[in-house]
Parts: sequence; structure tokens; C-alpha cells
Amino acid sequence: MSKVKIGIVGSRFQADCIAASVRMMPDEAEVVAVASPTPGNAEAFAKRHGIAKHYGDYHALLRDPEVELISVTAPNRMHAPITIDAARAGKHVVCEKPLCVTLEEADAMIEACAKAGVLLLYAEELFFAPKYVKAKQMADEGAFGRVHLVKQGEKHSGPHSDWFWDVDQSGGGALMDLGCHGIAFCWWFLGKQKIKSVYAQLSTQVHGARTQGDDEAVTIIEFENGALGIVENSWNRPGGMDDSIEVFGDKGQTYADMLMGNALPTYSEVGFGYAVEKAASTTGWTYPVFEEHWNYGFPQEMRHFARCVRGKETPISDGETGRVVQEVLYAAYASAGLGRKITLPFRPGGIGKPIDLWKRPELALTLS
Ligand SMILES: NC(=O)c1ccc[n+]([C@@H]2O[C@H](COP(=O)([O-])OP(=O)(O)OC[C@H]3O[C@@H](n4cnc5c(N)ncnc54)[C@H](O)[C@@H]3O)[C@@H](O)[C@H]2O)c1
Repeated sequence: MSKVKIGIVGSRFQADCIAASVRMMPDEAEVVAVASPTPGNAEAFAKRHGIAKHYGDYHALLRDPEVELISVTAPNRMHAPITIDAARAGKHVVCEKPLCVTLEEADAMIEACAKAGVLLLYAEELFFAPKYVKAKQMADEGAFGRVHLVKQGEKHSGPHSDWFWDVDQSGGGALMDLGCHGIAFCWWFLGKQKIKSVYAQLSTQVHGARTQGDDEAVTIIEFENGALGIVENSWNRPGGMDDSIEVFGDKGQTYADMLMGNALPTYSEVGFGYAVEKAASTTGWTYPVFEEHWNYGFPQEMRHFARCVRGKETPISDGETGRVVQEVLYAAYASAGLGRKITLPFRPGGIGKPIDLWKRPELALTLS
């Protein structure tokens, strides 16, 4: 069977990651086109990655008959319109995290893709990160007995692009940007069971001059069987990306540090090219990571999605996954606003963006 032909929307950070990742596992897919609105960017991206076609407007990419699958790497606010347009054009969609900004958008994206008979695949790469997959395999084998606590943390020094800091474009701060990973991870790790309640403590500790968003977040998720997920996120941790998990059961536990734990403890007085995402310096003691995309699971994720398009595998992360995460994000922001646990289902309508539920707690009160 021929390789799945991918078109990428966006040409910067995550687009580079997707293009490089598809090249790492080229047996099932290839990137054939890119679209990005900033003049010159799509062309430069195509040149960098050896991609044949480039467009300024993503609508032109959607009209390209060769493209079967769209990878959406545009800012969060654009996820829903691009996905819905892609579905109408008959293209399968891989949407970056978070799925979208509002629950209504999540519903509309799922509906549009179902109606068009195309796949909506939610790009949660932690489901494919080799270390985390190993932890889940051991847990599923019973290695830790009954797992009662799963922790996931993602922390760094703050996003690279301005739009992340503008809550109107992003929908929220560190919780929205990084917590979406941990929420999905705990839910997946514990067998995708129902979520009973959510409690969150949010604050803006460092970046108040730059953003209305939270830059510190702790979220506690209570699952139907009584197990807990704890998700810790920060935009205030210099020193490079920190992504790690801890799993506890009555018969054992495991710890996995995705990046530093797979790095070379290194000392250099003069520095070198690159250590790890968001590390500002390579002098002194650093933790340069090798095979960064592989450790995250991006190539494995894109291979799985391509195989789903060919009907060889069933999606383990789809629009429904993204909607579960979206509902927990709503509940977490509302919880922080009200200072109490929020029980699920929690589906307030007409919210402009999740962070509004934190900033205007009365909104959550009238709707919860
Ligand atoms: N899975 C992960 O770990 C991960 C990592 C980084 C980013 N992301 C997600 O990927 C998405 C993009 O993030 P990024 O870091 O690449 O941001 P970025 O700012 O580096 O790049 C955004 C890209 O979107 C393009 N864009 C902006 N408006 C557009 C429009 N109207 N139509 C088409 N393209 C448009 C920009 O030109 C740019 O190329 C975000 O949703 C982010 O949350 C996921």
C-alpha cells in the first residue's frame, strides 16, 4: 500500500517536529506539502525538509488532491476552523494539543469529521513515549498491584511564541498548554475510565506582566475507581524541559524522567550547540538529550496515525480523547476560580475560553 501523503499546516516549532518525525519512520507516510501564512515561511520550511509543495493559505493545501492527511500545527484558536475545513475537503486530520479552545468546538470538530467519514486523530504523543509506554505495560501486567496514584509533570521556562501568552489565542496558560498532556496521560494510564472530579490550584507567579494566563498549576483528578491523577505544570522552570511521571500501587512503583533521565550528564566550560528544548545555556552542567523526538514518541505517533488512515490500526487517541481533556480543563479552571472540587460531567455552554472560568468564578457558579 502507498505511503499516506501528509500536508502540514504551520511551519514553525511543532511543524518542524512533525516533519522530522515522519522522516524518522518513513515506511508508512511522507510529507508532501506545507501551508503557512507568513510570507516566505512555507517555502523555507519546504526547502529545509525536502517537501515538494508549499502554500501560503491552508485552503490551497486542502484543495491539493495528493494530500490525504492534514497535520494541524497552528495556534490553538485555529484548530477548530482548520479541522472543520479539512473534514469538508475530505482530509483526515491529526490535530495538535489541546484539541481546541471550547467544548462546543470539540463537538463541532468531532461531528464534522464523522459526517465526512474522515479520522480526527488527537496528537497526544505521551501515549507513544517509549519510557511511558513501558511503565504502562508493567502496570497493565500487574507489576504495581492496584495503581492508586499517577503523577505527570511538564515544566519549562515558558513558551517560545507570543500567541501562547495571549489567552484569547491560547485559551489559558500553563494548565491549558502543558496540563492537557498530563490530563490525557493519567486518563490513558488508568485505562480511560470515567473521571469523577477535578480540583486545581492555579496562580501567576512570575509572568504577570506578560500574560493573563496561569504560569503555575497543580491539578488533582479523581477517577471512578478511586485512583488519583496529579498533574503539575509550570512556565517558571529554567534549565530546559522537564517531563516526568511517577506511578504508585500497593505492590510497587515506578519513576520515569523522559528527558533528563535519558540524557548525558555533561559539564562544559565553553558550551556546545544544543542540549534540550527550552534550555537557555549549554555551559556548566547540562543534560543534553539524544533522539529527542523519539523519546517523546512523535515518530511512533505519526506512524500509528498513518496506519490508522490505511485501516491497519485503530486510533488510540482521537477527537473523543481531546474532548475528555477539554472537559477536565474547563473543570480545572472552574475549580481554581471557585476554590472547590468540580464534579463531572461539567459542560457549561457559551464559555469563550477555559481560563474565563478561573478569572470570572461567578460564570462557573451559575453554570455548574
Ligand atoms: N505535542 C507537543 O508536545 C506540542 C509541542 C509544541 C506545540 N504544540 C502545539 O502545536 C501547535 C502549534 O504550536 P507551535 O509551538 O508550533 O507554535 P509556533 O508559534 O511555533 O507556530 C505556529 C505556526 O502556525 C502558523 N499559523 C498561524 N496562524 C495561522 C493560520 N491562520 N493558518 C495557518 N497557519 C497559521 C504560524 O505561521 C506558525 O507557522 C499549538 O497548538 C501547540 O499547542 C504541541
